[in-house]
Amino acid sequence: MLTVNNLRFAWPGNSRAVLDIPSLELADGETLFLHGGSGSGKSTLLAAIAGVVAIDPGCLRVAGTDLGTLHGPARDRFRADHLGIVFQLFNLVPYLSALDNVLLPCRFSRSRRERAEAGSGGVHGAAVRLLDHLGLGDRALLTARADELSVGQQQRVAAARALIGTPGLVLADEPTSALDADLKDDFIDLLLAECRAAGSTLLFVSHDRGLERHFDRAVDFAGLNRAVAGEAGAC
Ligand SMILES: Nc1ncnc2c1ncn2[C@@H]1O[C@H](COP(=O)(O)OP(=O)(O)O)[C@@H](O)[C@H]1O
Ligand SMILES: [Mg+2]
Repeated sequence: MLTVNNLRFAWPGNSRAVLDIPSLELADGETLFLHGGSGSGKSTLLAAIAGVVAIDPGCLRVAGTDLGTLHGPARDRFRADHLGIVFQLFNLVPYLSALDNVLLPCRFSRSRRERAEAGSGGVHGAAVRLLDHLGLGDRALLTARADELSVGQQQRVAAARALIGTPGLVLADEPTSALDADLKDDFIDLLLAECRAAGSTLLFVSHDRGLERHFDRAVDFAGLNRAVAGEAGAC
């Protein structure tokens, strides 16, 4: 599902690489916990995989497609079709309801919409079912504005939005950092259960090592990214 091969990336205007990753592979359906300290480049790696920052051809393949060869609208379409993303601060649209936030990816991607529609109850039914599985089945919560929900509830909405239409790859960027300790394990169990049921591959990054036991595999970002050890030169 994901192949990283000699990926080097420096932010514009910065001569020093923040990513220098010889290799990383995720199999279809695998769940990987990527542990790394603050500022080590975890979010930058997810931005590269999401096609938000420009990378060279040959460095990154998602679901068999070389991301470095996609540009502009083609890259946006690829992201909408194949990736579900849970951001650290959730990035919900505050004035939309929980339900409408979950339905957003289906507006941007026909294939996501068609896959969501394939179950009973259509795309609306799929959103309600996902929210229900994530513990937000209450009708009043579905129609509440996103900014009226608690942090834990917003995080579940963000997860449902990433999962709708069964994207091949789900990226989660420290999605539990705003949660109380007792909610973290519950949330991860729910996220993993949904990914496993859908066959989605999950790349979960966090600085919190206490979470890694839930995942198929754990990798230390400092061992993966040579730029963390300060070995990378000009990029
Ligand atoms: N948009 C950006 N523009 C320039 N530099 C950035 C940007 N985002 C992150 N960086 C820099 O890249 C490095 C890695 O940041 P980040 O990927 O956010 O790390 P992490 O997610 O592991 O905390 C940091 O030095 C940070 O300052
Ligand atoms: Mg980060």
